[in-house]
Formats: sequence, structure tokens, C-alpha cells
Amino acid sequence: MNVMEHAVFRCFWYPVIPMSELKQGPRRFELLGQALALFLDDDGVPAALEDRCCHRTARLSLGEVCDNAIACPYHGWRYNRDGQCVLVPQMPDRDPGPKRRVKAFSCREKYGYAWVALEEPLFDIPDFPEAADDRFVLIHEFYEEWRVSGLRVMENELDMAHPSYVHLGTFGSPEHLVAEDAKIEEFPGGFHYTGRLGVKQAHHAQDRNNERFLDCSWYAPFICRLRINYADGPAHVIINCQVPLADNRSQVVQFCFQEDDGAGIDEAAILAFDRKVTLEDKHVLESTDADVPLDPRDERHMVSDKPGLVMRRMIQSLIEDHETQAVAVQ
Ligand code: FES
Ligand code: CO
Repeated sequence: MNVMEHAVFRCFWYPVIPMSELKQGPRRFELLGQALALFLDDDGVPAALEDRCCHRTARLSLGEVCDNAIACPYHGWRYNRDGQCVLVPQMPDRDPGPKRRVKAFSCREKYGYAWVALEEPLFDIPDFPEAADDRFVLIHEFYEEWRVSGLRVMENELDMAHPSYVHLGTFGSPEHLVAEDAKIEEFPGGFHYTGRLGVKQAHHAQDRNNERFLDCSWYAPFICRLRINYADGPAHVIINCQVPLADNRSQVVQFCFQEDDGAGIDEAAILAFDRKVTLEDKHVLESTDADVPLDPRDERHMVSDKPGLVMRRMIQSLIEDHETQAVAVQ
């Protein structure tokens, strides 16, 4: 069984689509194999319904928003954000009644994305401290599909042994094979990870030796905040989220908070640098196995793999807790 088939993955928030795209009209998104029709209600709040009309199964996402409801493109039945049909245009004087409805999912906006949880979420969407700090600017980076398991990308974010191989074309330094002073502190549903890594190029300066002071957090299952501080120069905070589609495909959602230390922010340069780094990762990650074994005996390891192993252990216990509760409810 592939790890992603466990039902617990339905119990988290995922940033499925940028709000800027929803402003253009309804969109379809497939989250863990569940087809969703996403749209904005009249207050500009995102809503997520199953993308299948209960009349003759047409995709609601091909319809339009009318009077605070999404209208099916086939015969115009309208559904509100709770999935209740509020109008059958061919029978305007009849109450559509409780049976004419589609499934609705929890949906809200944060950081410029519509977030969806398919079942009651176990944890809230993380509050990143930089979002409330005036010195930081939020920059949207990437929204694209990769053929990789999200767990592999999360591990990679926390793997400080790969830059000296994968990122030699950008910041990786062949003299610094692992992070120094690596420490992990767990909290419910995630952990903080700190350490120092020698690099050959900082985000704000070309061709100089430097050291990154890492202050990262992993939030189960697919959100990683990687705060990169330097001894001098502004902090760069990368938020990498993996949204699980179907069949081990992931929607990569990456944005960053860039500190303005008074020198201004060169957004194009930041995007170009992070793009290059990200493509270096993608090249290797898409060659890895689609499944991720949670039993540590199923792959070989080294000391610097600790964050990834803690992540695997925490995912395993979230799966077990969820399955125990599901049995208790039956
Ligand atoms: Fe949606 Fe007929 S299929 S209104
Ligand atoms: Co990398």
C-alpha cells in the first residue's frame, strides 16, 4: 500500500490554488483524487464543492458564479458554498429541497491561496511569524506539478547533505558536506530544526563565501518553512508546500517572505535564483521512488538524515492514531 492511500492525509489543510487564479473564475483541482470545483462567493471567500453536479454529473467547475452560487454549465442548477442547490432555473418556484446537493469541503484563504481540507483538519494552517512582520514582503514563487511524492520533497527541504552535490550550480559548497550544530525540537504535528551550513553564495550577494543559519519548521504532512539567516544581509524565508494530487503527483506551491533591510528587494533576482535552485532539486527528486517507506529498515540512512527520519516516524504515528480512532468510532 502506498503511504498516500492512508485516510489521515484527508485531514490536513492544503493550499490548492492561488487566489489570483480563482479571481478569473471557477477552477477544478484534484486533491488526493477528489475532484473539486473551487470558486469565490460574493464576499470573495473561496469555496470548494465536489466537481460533479447531482443532476447529470457535469463538472461544476466549467460553470459560472451567479448570485453567490456556482451555476452548472449543463442546465444551470445553482449551488451555494455549502453545496446546497438553491435554484433549478426550469422550476424557479419550487424549493430544490435537501436531496439536491453536492458535497462541500472546508475552504479558506490564507497567504494568497485557497486552502482546502477534505475532512476535519487535525491542525490549523501554520502562522508564519514573518507574515505579521512589516519588514517582510510575501513573494509568490512557483505553482506547478511535479512527478514526485510530497514526502520526498519535504525530506529534501530538511536534508542539508544534498546541497554540496545537487546545488553546486547555485549555493552548494563542496567543502561543507553537512550542517553543523543540527538540532530538532518536536511539537504536536511537526518540529523545528536549526543548524548552520556553509555555502558559496548567499541570496543577496554573488560569489562570496558565506554561512547560512537555518531556522526551519516542518508541519505535517507537507509544509516546510525554511528560514535562512546570514551573519549580514536580509533573511530569506522559503515556504514550500506539497499538495498531493493522485498517483504520486504533487502540486508544488512555493512562496517566500523576503526581509527588506533598507536596501530594497530585487524580486526578479530572488525569483531567478530560487527557480534555479528548485530546478536542481526537481531533477533529482523526480528520479526517486514514488512511494516512501515509513519503516526505517526499508531504506539505508546516514546521520544527517535525522530530520527526514523524525518526519517519517511522526507521519507513521499520525496514521496509526487516525486508524485507531476510526476503529473506535465503528
Ligand atoms: Fe448540472 Fe444538469 S447536469 S444542471
Ligand atoms: Co535542494
